[in-house]
Amino acid sequence: MRKNIAAGNWKMNLAFEEAKSLSEHVSNVQVADGTEVILGVPFPYLEQIQKVIASNPGVHVAAQNCHQEAKGAYTGEVSLGMLASIGIKTVILGHSERRAYQKETDELLAQKVKAALQAGFKVIFCCGESLETREAGEHFDFVEGQLRNSLFDLEAKDWKQIVIAYEPIWAIGTGVTASPEQAQEIHAHIRTLLKNTFNEQVAEETSILYGGSVKPANAKELFSKSDIDGGLVGGASLKAADFEQIIKSF
Ligand code: PGA
Repeated sequence: MRKNIAAGNWKMNLAFEEAKSLSEHVSNVQVADGTEVILGVPFPYLEQIQKVIASNPGVHVAAQNCHQEAKGAYTGEVSLGMLASIGIKTVILGHSERRAYQKETDELLAQKVKAALQAGFKVIFCCGESLETREAGEHFDFVEGQLRNSLFDLEAKDWKQIVIAYEPIWAIGTGVTASPEQAQEIHAHIRTLLKNTFNEQVAEETSILYGGSVKPANAKELFSKSDIDGGLVGGASLKAADFEQIIKSF
C-alpha cells in the first residue's frame, strides 16, 4: 500500500522562533497510521527542527534542494553528504520555483535525483505545467516529458525512494486550486505512465501528491480521489491550525 503524505513546503519563510513553534505544534498532531507528515525546512533550521519533531515518528523533515556533486568549490551549495551527516534523509527536487529562478533543467534534475538515490535519500520530485501549456491542451505531454527526462531511466527498484508531486504552476500560491477532477485526471495519467514504463507495482506503490493552493477547505476532497495520495502544501503549511487540519484530511 502506498502512503498518504502531507508535506509542507516552507520555502524561504519563517524566522527560527516561528519555525520552532510551528514544528512544535505539528509534532503534537496525531498522525494516522499509513500517513506521513514531511516538513520542507530551510537549510539553517533542519537539524534543530528535526530535534523538535523527533518525538513524533509520523513526522519527518526534508531539505528543499541539494547539489548534485559530492563536494568541492560550489560556494553557497549544500551536498547530500552534508545533509546525511545531520540525519536528513529526504529532499524536495524540481520545484517549479527552482526550475524558474535557478534555471534547473530536466537534465540537471536527473543528476540530482541520481545522486540523492545513491545517497539513500527519499526524493519528492515536483512536476507541473504553466497556465499557457494547460490552455494549449499540452499538459499531459509536458508533465510526461518532465518525468521522462529526469526519472524514466531509473530502475524499478529506485521507485521505493520516490514520491511525485504534481504541482500545476498556475495553482501555486495563487489561491486557484486545480479542481479535484483536473488533478485526479493527471495523477491517473502519471500512474499509467509508471505502469507502462516500469511495472504495476511501481505504479501502485508510488505516492503522487497534489500541490497548488491546498488548504483545509479543499484538502479532503482532493485527497479522496483515488490517485491523489496527499499534498505538497506551501502557504497553508505555515499556519499551524491549517496544516493540522490538512494532515487530518485523509
Ligand atoms: P502553495 O504552494 O500551497 O502556496 O500554492 C505549493 C508549493 O509550491 O509547493
